[in-house]
Amino acid sequence: MTPVTAPRVVSHESADVLVGDVASALLDRIETAQARGDVPHVGLTGGSIAEMLHRELARRAPDASVDWARVVFWWGDERFVPSDSSDRNAQQARRELLDVLGVDPANIHEVPASDEVATAEESAASYAETLRAAGWTSFEVLLLGIGPDGHTASLFPGHPGLDIRGALTAAVHDSPKPPPDRVTFTFEGLQQARSVWFLASGEGKADAVARALAEDGSVAETPARGVRGQDETVWWLDADAARLLP
Ligand code: 6PG
Repeated sequence: MTPVTAPRVVSHESADVLVGDVASALLDRIETAQARGDVPHVGLTGGSIAEMLHRELARRAPDASVDWARVVFWWGDERFVPSDSSDRNAQQARRELLDVLGVDPANIHEVPASDEVATAEESAASYAETLRAAGWTSFEVLLLGIGPDGHTASLFPGHPGLDIRGALTAAVHDSPKPPPDRVTFTFEGLQQARSVWFLASGEGKADAVARALAEDGSVAETPARGVRGQDETVWWLDADAARLLP
């Protein structure tokens, strides 16, 4: 699917203010979707800024009018490690957010772990099957991080995963960022989102963010360039991450 929307940048002085704004916007989006009768599917991500966001959402949740029984959670990518590993994006989100809110396990769709299936390929195939079985068609909001190398989810520069077509998910091996084995949504999967929200904080992300948003550049070099939401693509940045933008 071809990218459909031009990205928009929202930047804030500090990571704390940024996370507060994203938390409000996400709670609003979930409430609005529920008010029109939808059960929104939210794509979660791992990483440091996501961890801050999860804590902030958990803190604000009691005051929000979200019906947590009517939200479905997925991950854009996952590390292929045992289910109890603290390396798992899902572990972190559960600890900081989902367990705190008491979300029904039936609405939390984790990528199968290395103690549950034999290979990352099997895990990716099983996750795609779960998506189909759950009636997933798109994310209401898909949260993504970006690495200093420009990767997003587990789509790394120059990696074979960038070229996969005709599948929603894929196994990744030899990831330059440890752990080496992972499962990721493909570009085709990631683009099934009304809103794609990238979160980036800190000086270390400034170059990758500038490359992702530059007029020219390649997806092979900066994979984050290749993901756009159907309705919007928002880059939520703190001042350090936005430092090299024109
Ligand atoms: C992972 C993540 C990855 C992450 C970015 C940003 O498995 O590492 O899924 O895509 O979101 O690398 O991570 P940081 O915010 O920690 O830099």
